[in-house]
Amino acid sequence: MNDFIFHNPDKVYFGTNQMKNLPNELLSFGKKVLLVYGGGSIKKNGLYDEIASLTKAADITLFELSGVEPNPRHSTVNKGAAICKEQGIDVILAAGGGSTIDCAKGIAAAALTDDGDVWPLVSGGVWVTKALPLVAILTNAATGSEMDAWAVISNMDTNEKIGLGGSALIPRAAFENPEYSYTLPAYQTACGAFDIFNHVLDNYYLAGDATFDLLLDMQEAVMRTVVKWAPIAMSEPDNYEARANLMWASSMALNTILDGGTVHGCACHAMEHELSAYYDITHGHGLAILTPRWLSYILDEQTAPAIYRFGQKVFNVEDGLAAIDGAQKSIDALSDFCFKTLGLKSTLTDLDIDSTNFKAMAKHACAGATITGPKELAPEDVENIYKMCL
Ligand code: NZQ
Ligand code: ZN
Repeated sequence: MNDFIFHNPDKVYFGTNQMKNLPNELLSFGKKVLLVYGGGSIKKNGLYDEIASLTKAADITLFELSGVEPNPRHSTVNKGAAICKEQGIDVILAAGGGSTIDCAKGIAAAALTDDGDVWPLVSGGVWVTKALPLVAILTNAATGSEMDAWAVISNMDTNEKIGLGGSALIPRAAFENPEYSYTLPAYQTACGAFDIFNHVLDNYYLAGDATFDLLLDMQEAVMRTVVKWAPIAMSEPDNYEARANLMWASSMALNTILDGGTVHGCACHAMEHELSAYYDITHGHGLAILTPRWLSYILDEQTAPAIYRFGQKVFNVEDGLAAIDGAQKSIDALSDFCFKTLGLKSTLTDLDIDSTNFKAMAKHACAGATITGPKELAPEDVENIYKMCL
């Protein structure tokens, strides 16, 4: 196992009876709070009213930025940063899915810059060490943003979607009440679930050495959790155990506890961010289309044993097969999960995406070099994988 440092300062309040702790969490940073949310789901499920009454009772002054888009735009981040500067905001409260939390992270960072513009930080790859404090209330089990150091911000003018990272972006506290995800439509539930799954899988093979057994077992447990509970959450939206298992899996997948000693490759994420940058698709759906094709593309004698192990542990693929056959069955099981169990459309063509931009997307996904991972991917490899998805 490699050396590593694990430090995650996020305080998680998990469960149905935790919101009473929200005012004190906020007040530990100050009385002026910017509430950031999306297109209105928090008004429909009662979360907005709960925040309003809790903060009012605690004499907290609430400012608002609403309308954060799925795949949040840098222009929306900048609007929030301007409010922070004008009003002297003490702490940001994000209430929603990954897009809302990411937008709030961007605001937290941009608010402390001279011009309040997030894009130079994003495009310049700046590691953010200074930002306003952020508290997150999660409503969609998916991205892990509630417990990680990343925000993914889009600039639709330039077709760019880029991660902004930094220790200062980790929320100071996260409230995770699975009941607030009951209102998620089945499609968003499926996309979020596959995002969780891929966060683990994108990191899994680099830990393929047997000395990483503890880590592999933990990673497989998170993927099995998704396989077990996602279909239940889709068919029974208010099944608490299903929502709770998915929500905690979301946080576990990216809070770095599963990273110990491994190296991130994130091939599917690098390829998917280009799809959503060009076509504004739902992140988890793009991942579901890409992942089985990526595995097929990298399947050879070297990768087969690890892919087969994954299939055995996560999808109960039978023992005793030749590695290459077992790996193929594992990929088939993954495809069935994505396209039959989760019911996601299986091709880019289904999403009205053709090959027009593949070359430019592949070049950008490789960031001028290659994508590292179990197999290094050059731009022509990425383009081939996109073509397999048509
Ligand atoms: O905007 P509202 O009205 O809230 O509706 C949202 C949105 O339409 C809705 N929704 C969320 N919670 C709901 C709900 N609807 C009903 N009931 C609820 N409880 O779901 C839609 C999608 O929300 P969004 O926040 O976009 O989804 P998600 O959580 O999947 O976030 C996706 C974004 O996160 C980025 C993705 O690239 C994408 O931009 N990611 C962020 C990461 C990170 N910060 O570390 C890592 C990920 O790999 C990912 O790239
Ligand atoms: Zn993701």
